[in-house]
Amino acid sequence: MKSLIVANWKMNPATWREAKKLFDVTKLLAAKAKKVSIIVAPPAIFLRSFAESNKGGKIALALQHGHAEATGSFTGDISYAHAKDAKVTYVIIGHAERRALGETNEDTRKKVEAALVLGMTPILCIGEKERAHDGSYFGVIRDQLRVGLADVSENKLAKVIIAYEPVWAIGATKAMAPRDMHEMAIFIRKSLVETRGSNGYAVKILYGGSIDSDNARTMLSEGDVDGLLVGRASADKEKFTALIHSLSLSS
Ligand code: PGA
Repeated sequence: MKSLIVANWKMNPATWREAKKLFDVTKLLAAKAKKVSIIVAPPAIFLRSFAESNKGGKIALALQHGHAEATGSFTGDISYAHAKDAKVTYVIIGHAERRALGETNEDTRKKVEAALVLGMTPILCIGEKERAHDGSYFGVIRDQLRVGLADVSENKLAKVIIAYEPVWAIGATKAMAPRDMHEMAIFIRKSLVETRGSNGYAVKILYGGSIDSDNARTMLSEGDVDGLLVGRASADKEKFTALIHSLSLSS
């Protein structure tokens, strides 16, 4: 199975010129890499042009953040319907940087449902802010899953992707240890199966937080994950090339 690499560019780069260069490099990587599928989540203003230049290409596109309503009086927002119309097939929901700005579990519930209704694939981000020794972070994760997926019917569950991103590892210097991710992946799967039935086993789980060319491969092989959500290292041509190359080595 190919690993899924989500390139979350966040609010980078600053110009169309740089964005196009980065996308061209990413396209070449996607065409050559045999073991990975790449999904690019650029700033929304670049999406339509990227979709046009990627016709028949290997890259899938994701919206970083959007509104569940198709249209309406929501100044500054972009809807999933807009994204779908621009040939975007994935939506990131509940990223920690959006939760920090007020996105709630209840918001993620509506968004996951809206994305599925449109036939798009929701990437629901979950993750605790900090880890106390008493293990209370497991409760945070369970709640994020329970509320975020509350409206998803059992037969659609496997269409949702879960991106586990501990907030303390995002934009940090070190990723989480793969063995800790392994433990968390088991917990996530167990929670899904207990609350939503056996289709929970089929849900893809990604890890995100300080992934780069040094740790990507080990996280994939030892972390029990189906892919990675990459921030900083995906918005830098050299770093992303090194990362994808590190995953393409034969093992
Ligand atoms: P980072 O971001 O790779 O820069 O830590 C990950 C993310 O927030 O998706």
